[in-house]
Amino acid sequence: MYLNKLKIGNIQLPNNIFLAPMAGITDLPFRILCKNNGAGLTFTEMVSGKALYYGDEKTKKLLNTTNEKRPIAVQIFGSDIESMKKATEYVNAIADIIDINMGCPAPKVVKNGDGSKLLLNLDLAEEIVKEVVKVSKHPVSVKIRKGWDSNNIVAIEAAKRIENAGASMITIHGRTREEFYTGKADWNIIKQVKEKLKIPVIGNGDIKTWKDAKFMFEETNVDGIMIRKSCTWKSVDF
Ligand SMILES: Cc1cc2nc3c(=O)[nH]c(=O)nc-3n(C[C@H](O)[C@H](O)[C@H](O)COP(=O)(O)O)c2cc1C
Repeated sequence: MYLNKLKIGNIQLPNNIFLAPMAGITDLPFRILCKNNGAGLTFTEMVSGKALYYGDEKTKKLLNTTNEKRPIAVQIFGSDIESMKKATEYVNAIADIIDINMGCPAPKVVKNGDGSKLLLNLDLAEEIVKEVVKVSKHPVSVKIRKGWDSNNIVAIEAAKRIENAGASMITIHGRTREEFYTGKADWNIIKQVKEKLKIPVIGNGDIKTWKDAKFMFEETNVDGIMIRKSCTWKSVDF
């Protein structure tokens, strides 16, 4: 009932259960393992648009996709429009879907205005999506959080603007930047985002068991889910 095929732009995915992108974890062998075990989509570790712009070899190595089953989603981050455009041009040759990270809470990322810091500058966030979509040969998706902090819960507005800017899918992690990975993910905000958007919405946060996965679908009506922990979803009849 919930396990379905999903189309992102012109890209047909085998199912709607995704592996969450994780820096330091979702390298090529891990992605291959998860795809072989049924993940509908996996993402590369996030890579810096600026590092690609400057041709950093270490960063390029993070984008090794040798023998990886398609479709391949590459996640880039950054807040500098020129470097994000150049990074998109580079990634065009590798990816089937280009994902923009607007959720990373790490201090070294947000201090440059990147990742979740963009949730405090929705004009810039929208502009980045517009420009990346213009340059991209593939559907562009964006991963956001609930907001920056409890005074800045911006997911609904951000999602609407990102959709209008041309994104083909949005993933929402139901925590603010302030919460990092602590506390309970807010699935109600995910539900509200889903109600407002036409493009596919993916729910993320606190899916640890197949029951959580089922509840996420039931409670939010999302088109797909993104999980980080191992989860026995294949054993249940969705
Ligand atoms: C070690 C680690 C690395 C992560 N790296 C990324 C990343 O590169 N890009 C991204 O969008 N999210 C990243 N995340 C966030 C996850 O994709 C996910 O949104 C988050 O863990 C919430 O889901 P959970 O409640 O199931 O853990 C990372 C999380 C962890 C724990």
